[in-house]
Amino acid sequence: MKLPARMSKFAVAALASFGLLGAAAAADPEFAGSQACGKCHQDAYKTWKQSNHAKMVRPKDEAILKDVVEQWGNGGPTKINLTDAPAKLDDVVYVVGSYWKQRFLVKNAATGGHLFLDKQWNRMTKKWENYGQKNDWDTNCATCHSTGFRLTSYDDKNPAAQKWSMAEINIACEACHGAGAKHVKSRKKADIYVFAGKSKAEQTRVCGYCHIRLENEKFKTAQGNPAEYLPHPEIGKTWHPGDDWTKWYASEAIIPGVHAEDKMDTLYKGDLAGMFKLDDVSKQNGFYDAGKHHQQYQEFLQSKHYQKNLASCSDCHSSHAGKKPMIVAKDTCKGCHDASFTVEKYMPGTGSTAAGLFLRTHTFNKNQSRPPQLTATGEPEYNKK
Ligand code: HEC
Ligand code: HEC
Ligand code: HEC
Ligand code: HEC
Ligand code: HEC
Ligand code: HEC
Repeated sequence: MKLPARMSKFAVAALASFGLLGAAAAADPEFAGSQACGKCHQDAYKTWKQSNHAKMVRPKDEAILKDVVEQWGNGGPTKINLTDAPAKLDDVVYVVGSYWKQRFLVKNAATGGHLFLDKQWNRMTKKWENYGQKNDWDTNCATCHSTGFRLTSYDDKNPAAQKWSMAEINIACEACHGAGAKHVKSRKKADIYVFAGKSKAEQTRVCGYCHIRLENEKFKTAQGNPAEYLPHPEIGKTWHPGDDWTKWYASEAIIPGVHAEDKMDTLYKGDLAGMFKLDDVSKQNGFYDAGKHHQQYQEFLQSKHYQKNLASCSDCHSSHAGKKPMIVAKDTCKGCHDASFTVEKYMPGTGSTAAGLFLRTHTFNKNQSRPPQLTATGEPEYNKK
């Protein structure tokens, strides 16, 4: 594997030994990698490293939860989804997630991707749950869990043969600031994406590319099902912050709430059926709250905060706060509202991420009168080697 000189020894070792980037992953010349950025932007690197964005997909030994290892034999995973082949803890190469829940990946020799095991761990209830996902992580989830994802070859008639590459796993610097190899050389602000000065809608769209729920009929997973993500429409290209992805193959990507014709209350045949909640509280107020997780963008579009150009995601969340969750302050409300406007009152958990575990709604609906639901708190405890 030929790598540009700027890649550190560590990065090379990581690419080679982890294998997630695949044999296909000659380093992406447009991207520099977060370690390169960190050489000049040490504070930004440090705060990002502490955020969950840097921790989404990691090698098993680095990030498997302590409880998971202890409870593996007590109702934990036993087989690989799709093939039904038996699986042991030792077969796991990557873990996905850690803050709300954790899922487990093994290699899929047939496609070059990765398949899931049949159980997931709920960190808050400390219980095993069934998990039936039968699509490769790489062609169903990866755009949102990595940086610089590209489809490098794709044939409608044979999605199983598709090829892809990623510049880096996890949501790294260049997922939000754009490909930065040019900036590393020039050190010019003009060669990197900066949020300051961009419209609130555009800033929100950068985050919304991943904090969304959709169904993609144009690009299928290796298993031939509609993908849950939105790779760049052109084969070989990758997404850049600032791109207006709402215009990409609009008729083939069902994105409720983003395209006028895709009303949130329509029941779609695929994975989105029933995922936008229209319970009594929502119905009364004409809002669609999340039924599942990663729907913040669609919820926020309905909010007056968005519609009146008052706030973007980054006005309340700092990608460089270095804390979890990356909230500048629950106290952001106080800057604009009286003390009766609290997170507990106006942002109840509606989006289910695991059994009985919810994410907070982002519709900012004034009549949120739900009983409190379990939301995630605290820090994950990892298994020490
Ligand atoms: C060799 C040193 C160097 C490296 C490596 C580097 N930068 Fe920079 N970066 C700079 C300098 C110098 C500036 C200030 C440029 C200016 O003010 O015109 C800057 C500015 C920025 C800004 C704008 C800051 C602001 O105040 O608005 C961002 C964002 C940024 N860099 C991100 C990155 C990312 C992401 C990477 C990795 C892809 C990276 N940088 C790699 C030197 C570097
Ligand atoms: C999830 C998106 C995201 C990721 C990942 C991210 N940033 Fe940022 N970055 C932002 C946003 C948004 C701002 C604007 C200020 C803010 O909201 O904190 C920013 C601000 C900056 C700035 C300008 C200085 C400042 O504090 O305003 C620099 C430099 C920077 N980021 C570099 C990096 C580097 C280097 C990495 C990786 C180590 C990185 N960023 C990862 C979103 C991100
Ligand atoms: C459209 C982008 C997108 C796609 C596609 C996507 N995710 Fe995610 N995922 C997210 C975002 C954003 C979060 C965090 C926010 C949230 O859950 O609301 C998340 C959270 C998670 C978490 C919890 C992380 C933790 O720390 O607990 C897991 C596990 C997860 N995703 C697995 C998957 C799997 C498996 C797939 C594919 C079957 C997938 N995701 C597809 C965007 C996506
Ligand atoms: C490339 C996809 C992607 C982009 C772009 C992205 N996110 Fe995320 N975000 C994720 C995923 C995946 C997670 C779950 C990470 C985990 O649990 O390990 C997440 C988690 C979060 C969380 C909750 C976890 C925490 O650390 O607090 C917040 C808040 C968040 N993102 C805000 C933002 C904001 C604000 C932006 C834009 C500046 C943004 N995200 C851009 C994919 C993305
Ligand atoms: C940048 C200022 C700002 C911040 C920060 C802010 N809000 Fe708002 N919010 C507003 C404004 C202004 C309105 C009124 C919009 C209108 O009705 O024209 C509003 C509207 C609302 C509404 C709807 C009220 C209605 O009558 O429909 C709710 C609920 C709400 N905000 C909750 C919150 C919560 C909770 C937070 C903190 C997490 C928060 N807001 C943070 C400025 C802000
Ligand atoms: C008006 C302020 C505000 C805006 C704007 C905002 N959020 Fe949040 N967000 C919050 C608060 C407050 C929480 C709850 C934090 C907590 O529980 O400590 C939160 C929680 C989250 C979480 C974690 C879910 C959970 O249940 O803890 C994610 C992910 C997230 N926000 C993403 C986003 C994204 C993406 C956007 C833009 C589309 C956005 N937020 C816009 C205030 C905001």
